Amino acid sequence: MLIRTPEEDIKYVLYTEEQIQKRVAELGQELGEKFRDKTPLMICVLRGASFFFTDLCRQMKCHMNIDFISASSYFSGTKSSGTVRLVKDSSIDMTDRHLVLVEDIIDSGLTLQYLERLFETRKPASITTVAFLDKDVKKPNRNGVDYRGFVIPDEFVVGYGLDYADYYRNLPYIGVLKEECYQ
Ligand code: PRP
Repeated sequence: MLIRTPEEDIKYVLYTEEQIQKRVAELGQELGEKFRDKTPLMICVLRGASFFFTDLCRQMKCHMNIDFISASSYFSGTKSSGTVRLVKDSSIDMTDRHLVLVEDIIDSGLTLQYLERLFETRKPASITTVAFLDKDVKKPNRNGVDYRGFVIPDEFVVGYGLDYADYYRNLPYIGVLKEECYQ
């Protein structure tokens, strides 16, 4: 059992709760206007995006449907395994729907690329991608994301849904984890 509090393992806070909520409100307003007459199908990529997803949807002033899928590529480490696994699929018919794929972070870009390719085969009207964080890394075949909250340096961040070994998700801010916690 861990006896240290999550806060003690944070090297520094990258984005405070206030900064996060301000940015999410801006994104929500923008997306709400874009999809005002389209009733998007909002898709949350569990588990990391869960906190961002619920905040974002509440800021969008339009009708919507929501669903949850689960993808995993990190298992318990800090580097992508290079293989994406769809742990839970959607059961909603995506034909002619405007899909909004909501991610917490784009790192190698593999997860988003995998999901976009998968959902394209289901003949939606459109696919819009949203990520709360976009890591400033240059990787081959990395697709861009349509909407992003913040561009961040190549550091291992946790909080606001993001984890290390499934911990730290409940921190209300985005923090950089101390190296000693994962070395
Ligand atoms: C994380 C994160 C993204 C993905 C991004 O998921 O939530 O889905 O990795 O990394 P990539 O751009 O290198 O593919 P993870 O596999 O850790 O599952 P989780 O959301 O349950 O934490």
